[in-house]
Amino acid sequence: MSPFELPDDIVDETVYRRAVAHLKERGVVLPRFAELVTPQPVDDGLDRDAADPRNLFRVHWYNDAAELSGRTVPAHIELPPAITGVDARIVVMLGRNFPIIHAHKVLAAYACLAPRLAAGYFDPTTQRAVWPSTGNYCRGGVAISRILGCRSVAVLPEGMSAERFRWLEEWVTDPSDIVRTPGSESNVKEIYDACAELEREPDTMIFNQFSEFPNYLGHYAVTGSAAASLFEAFRDTDPDLSLAAFVSATGSAGTLAAGDRLKELFGARVVVMEPTECPTLLYNGFGEHNIQGIGDKHVPLIHNVTNTDLIVGVSDDATDDLHVLFNSEAGRAYLAERHGVDAATLSRLDVFGLSGIGNVLAAIKTARRLKLKSTDMILTVATDGSELYTSERQTRLAERFGGRFDAVDAAETFGRHILGGDADHVLEMTRRERDRVFNLGYYTWVEQQGIALADFERRRDQSFWRGLHDKLESFDQLITRINHDTGLSRAA
Ligand SMILES: Cc1ncc(COP(=O)(O)O)c(C=O)c1O
Repeated sequence: MSPFELPDDIVDETVYRRAVAHLKERGVVLPRFAELVTPQPVDDGLDRDAADPRNLFRVHWYNDAAELSGRTVPAHIELPPAITGVDARIVVMLGRNFPIIHAHKVLAAYACLAPRLAAGYFDPTTQRAVWPSTGNYCRGGVAISRILGCRSVAVLPEGMSAERFRWLEEWVTDPSDIVRTPGSESNVKEIYDACAELEREPDTMIFNQFSEFPNYLGHYAVTGSAAASLFEAFRDTDPDLSLAAFVSATGSAGTLAAGDRLKELFGARVVVMEPTECPTLLYNGFGEHNIQGIGDKHVPLIHNVTNTDLIVGVSDDATDDLHVLFNSEAGRAYLAERHGVDAATLSRLDVFGLSGIGNVLAAIKTARRLKLKSTDMILTVATDGSELYTSERQTRLAERFGGRFDAVDAAETFGRHILGGDADHVLEMTRRERDRVFNLGYYTWVEQQGIALADFERRRDQSFWRGLHDKLESFDQLITRINHDTGLSRAA
């Protein structure tokens, strides 16, 4: 099936019937996308990390929800000017509260699998689901597959963090279900090559997050709505507030789809963050970096490039150093004593994984470039938390700070990366720049991956993306139908 053929009816009756029987036997009810946009509570006593089908109903932003202006809103942290050094309000939604993998990429995995399962296209009784990724998406895919009781394969570069591999080793059914490809973060071509090989084996289906439009759609609907409700709650108490931008690093560019929704609703700018060590979108560049999960040396098929407003480069030097600052005693003491950062904020600085810190830095650069004020808000996400990078932090501490991070290191780190952070590598997208970045995708998708030129091209126009949005309704109808046919209904 081409990525452009999105199911809106049953594709294969026999496979569909097998899927119904399989889900019925396992007691699996699938949530509709609408139920992840507006979720109902799940039994508090249920372990959030259990491979229990009820946890599918936790694949949303409202776990550990907050109250704001009398509304229930996604868990988030607002970073005060004392930390960011800018007046604009920078608010970060927290991916670590998603179930099982503690990163919001489990949403992308569910979004890719659910429509194919409900359409009788993926057979959970005979097929292996293959999840190519740089770490979190494949963990999400493995988690969802295990809940559904089907075999899965994680494909990821061997250089990813030790914490990711430890998690995978516990969750796959067989050690051979972890495929380690050469290189690190930005070696996505090697991942594609491994997938092409796996695809030649029978009963294998690849869920390629970089070209699966349901990844885009899941974030457009679920992440976009969560971010919208958060902004609206802030605006309730501050009617002058405007949503200036949504910032997201791109790995697959799935999360970035929330920006499309926020632009439609509030006119927010869509801002992409990428590592300056691998400046593909900025400068057609390439290279190695350590902002894990992003900067993959190509333009994903599901990236709505011509709707992108700014591209902001962030160095992994900055994210690695700030990760140490945020999670060390000396760093927090410095922020409290010299900058008056409050204790509540300090105690939560572990909500940021490396790409989350990168997103905050990109938000700061955006605020500076656009001269944003205290009536401007920037929303962004922390895909995962610092617990996934303990080993990376230890390595940085040893290699850069000689094993000890003191008050002077804290001051230097903050001064260098936040107060005096470089203002360079910020590109405001003109028509010509949008076309340049869009065209760059040609080499991956048309030349390497065999996408038809006409399909590649139609993504240039916004009408293509608007047309996609209607598919969400069809997906929900398919999910409603399969739940009806299993005869199961959701137990809280
Ligand atoms: C830690 C981390 N940050 C950011 C991203 C990028 O998210 P997306 O793939 O939705 O662009 C990923 C993707 O896997 C990730 O794992």
